[in-house]
Amino acid sequence: MRILLFTGKGGVGKSTVAAGTAALAARRGLRTLVISTDAAHSLADAYGAAEPGSAYGGADPVEIAPGLHLQQVDAQLRFEQSWADIQRYLLSVLDAVGMDPVAAEEMTVIPGAEEVLALLELREHARSGSWDVIVVDCAPTAETLRLLALPEALGWYLERLLPIQRRLVRALRPVLDRAAGVPMPGDTVFDAITRLHGELDDVHDLLSGPESTVRLVLTPEQVVLAEARRAYTGLCLFGYRVDGVIANRVFPAGDDDPWRAGWVAAQREVLDDVAQSFPGLPVWTSEYQPAEPVGVDALCALAADLYDGADPLAVPGGEGPFRVSRSEDGGAVARLTLPNARRSEVDLARNGDELVMTVGSYRRLLTLPPGLARLRVAGASVVDGELRVRFAEPAAALREAR
Ligand SMILES: Nc1ncnc2c1ncn2[C@@H]1O[C@H](COP(=O)(O)OP(=O)(O)O)[C@@H](O)[C@H]1O
Ligand SMILES: [Mg+2]
Repeated sequence: MRILLFTGKGGVGKSTVAAGTAALAARRGLRTLVISTDAAHSLADAYGAAEPGSAYGGADPVEIAPGLHLQQVDAQLRFEQSWADIQRYLLSVLDAVGMDPVAAEEMTVIPGAEEVLALLELREHARSGSWDVIVVDCAPTAETLRLLALPEALGWYLERLLPIQRRLVRALRPVLDRAAGVPMPGDTVFDAITRLHGELDDVHDLLSGPESTVRLVLTPEQVVLAEARRAYTGLCLFGYRVDGVIANRVFPAGDDDPWRAGWVAAQREVLDDVAQSFPGLPVWTSEYQPAEPVGVDALCALAADLYDGADPLAVPGGEGPFRVSRSEDGGAVARLTLPNARRSEVDLARNGDELVMTVGSYRRLLTLPPGLARLRVAGASVVDGELRVRFAEPAAALREAR
């Protein structure tokens, strides 16, 4: 089962391109689901669906063309209340316990119910075996990254703090129940958090697996490109595989109208930067259409033109974003694709079997494979768009540090 995620700044054409790609897949006879995790749903509008958008927010996807199914996740329907409970509890704990700053920061990235529900929905669909292709129309860049980081962020909290708190709470409940201002979760809250974590972990595995890829949608404007570059770094940091860039709404060269010629020249300049910002990735371009591309036919035409003969469902070969290789002296090197990052922007800290990596405003807690967790970090560098972290036997690392 192939999973394609589309993200990018607001308004660049994510929904349009996601809808078009899904429509192409369905025309090939593949069982295709297109699902939106953006609270600003516009898939139904893009397909020019007769029903209002809310008709697609139900429990089951709706078939809108042969083999093409649409679902717009609507959190209001279910879930919102229980998520709100969990969220309120987590934040109150944060406040009351005076948590480690790393954890505190992670806690502040808890997304809204809508996004969490969308991820859980995605997991259910992926497990159902009903689909050959799932296309995900994601929220704008920053939210998508936060969302994708959630399972790890919650995992940190759960593994470190929850067991301790649970024991503490059991022991102290009789006393604390009478003290004001101390948050006292019931066992049901703990159970809900633990279950949620397991489910989100599955989502992370699913979305960082070999058949899932992310496509960055942009328009040829400097501001948009800058955000796409940051998103690329962030996605790689979190272990997701980006397999292409879509430059949408490119003005076709034409007459000598100075307004148009000005735009064409300006866009061409940005497109040159695009090519340099994402080395090794295909950049697919889509022209600014004379009218809004609405309806299955128009979207199919746009997508066919965009991919220009390339297979939009191809699974990229080569290595994923995170690799570990052993060295002969018993050490190891972990390599993480980290495009557009400079060493000075990358911060590393060790926290037990986790490596805390910060790049700009993104932070990742990478759980080290067992063989690495035993070793010490001996050094790090950024070379050719790749972060290399050297690990050594504890004794060797000490020698190296001297
Ligand atoms: N290549 C294109 N040519 C003309 N209009 C486009 C093109 N791509 C998208 N649009 C229009 O731009 C608007 C925003 O697109 P949309 O896909 O909803 O963006 P996003 O999902 O990124 O917010 C929509 O009205 C859409 O029809
Ligand atoms: Mg959209």
